[in-house]
Formats: sequence, C-alpha cells, structure tokens
Amino acid sequence: MQILKHPRTLRSFGRVKARPLTDQQQHLIDHLLPQLCVTPLHDGQWEAWAAPYHAVWLEIGFGGGEHLVSIAQRYPEILCLGAEPFLNGVAQCLRGIDEAKITNIALHPHDVHPLLDAMPDAYLNRVDILFPDPWRKRAHYKRRIINPALLARLSRIMRPHASLWIATDHRDYAAWIARHCTEQTAFTWVNQEDGATPPNDWHPTRYQMKAEAQGIAPVFFHLTRSST
Ligand SMILES: C[S@@+](CC[C@H](N)C(=O)[O-])C[C@H]1O[C@@H](n2cnc3c(N)ncnc32)[C@H](O)[C@@H]1O
Repeated sequence: MQILKHPRTLRSFGRVKARPLTDQQQHLIDHLLPQLCVTPLHDGQWEAWAAPYHAVWLEIGFGGGEHLVSIAQRYPEILCLGAEPFLNGVAQCLRGIDEAKITNIALHPHDVHPLLDAMPDAYLNRVDILFPDPWRKRAHYKRRIINPALLARLSRIMRPHASLWIATDHRDYAAWIARHCTEQTAFTWVNQEDGATPPNDWHPTRYQMKAEAQGIAPVFFHLTRSST
C-alpha cells in the first residue's frame, strides 16, 4: 500500500529508529502496518472514509501510542489518526492495537506535515500534541513543531469548535506555546495560558509519566478552533 512521503528538510523530530526491532515488531510493521496506513485520498474520499464515524481525531507524535490506543478503545465511534516517524514507537503502538484488536485507528508513520496538507478543510474534530520535543537550544528553536505555520495548517483542517490539546513538561516551551497560540487568532483559549488539567478520560503518555516521576508538573493547554 502506498504511503504519503514527506518533502521537508528541517525536521521537528529526532531519530526515526533506535534499537533493532524484535521479530514480533518487524512482523507487525510488515503485516499490520500496511493495513492501517493512511493512504493518499482524493477529493471526496476523505469524507467517505470518515462517514461511518462520529468524528475524526488526530494525535501528532504519538510516541509509543499509549494515549492513542487508550482513546481509540474508549471511543470506538471515533476515527483516531496518529502520526509518528519513530519506527520503534510505531511498532509499540501496533502491538497495543493488535492486542486490543482495535479497528478505529489509522497511522501515518512519517512526518505529519504532508498528511495535514492533504486533508480537506474543516476535517478534524480534535488534535492532540502531547509532549512535543522541546528542542532546548536556541539554535534549534526553529525545529519546534508548535510554530505559526503549524497552527495555520491546523486552523484550516480543524472544524469550528474542534479541540486542540497541547501538553508539555518544559517551562520555556510552555511559554513559547502560550505565546504562539495567543498570536494565532483562529483559536480561542478554553483554559488560560497557565495550563489546565487534562480531561477525565486522559491516558498519560510515557513522557508525561517520566516528567511526573521527576516531580515536574506538566502543563496542558486546551484551545478550540474559533467559529470564524
Ligand atoms: C518527546 S516525544 C513524545 C511522545 C509522546 N507523545 C509522549 O508523550 O510520550 C515527541 C514525539 O513527537 C514526534 N514528532 C516530532 N515531530 C513530528 C512530526 N513532524 N510529525 C510526527 N511526529 C513528530 C517524535 O518522533 C517523538 O516521538
């Protein structure tokens, strides 16, 4: 099955593979992933794909997929899309999907940007970006995935009133996120810029648990796509 390719050169992600995959992980990549990959769709096909579901949600940078798998299990009526270029994370997510026999997840195992650009206007009902890489050095700030261009892309493909959740455990990145989200007028704050608590159905991610184990309280930003 053909998958979308990414033309960008300046990456917001680090490594795309770490440890060698186990035989079981490789089997899932070879046999399960092709069935779940988001394929290039033409005008009109996006709507047909989503039609059996109540809504379409997207998680950008799902890591090992803990949150994505949990959300998909809890809401079988939602089409849950996930983008993640880190192959070991994709393999871990596939294991969760396989074990729980989940059928409402589709994966884009690459940079999310071409996927965003391929989507029709007002397609998504919710977007989660959880613990994005903070790119701590000033020289690397331009790699931060939360930036005006990403927010402009999201504003096009999110429906009016769709939710945008962004979480971080990095104080400087939190200030950066708050500033850029405030400057993007297509979004309205649900919580104030100092960070909300997550909803009750939230499943903690690996990075969230790591931060909390170190005594760092993550910040959860919640915005909605404005109606105009
Ligand atoms: C710090 S990790 C957090 C993973 C997970 N959300 C968690 O909280 O455990 C950030 C993830 O975002 C992914 N990422 C960064 N840029 C991305 C992009 N352009 N498209 C998709 N995923 C991206 C990275 O590969 C990485 O796995």
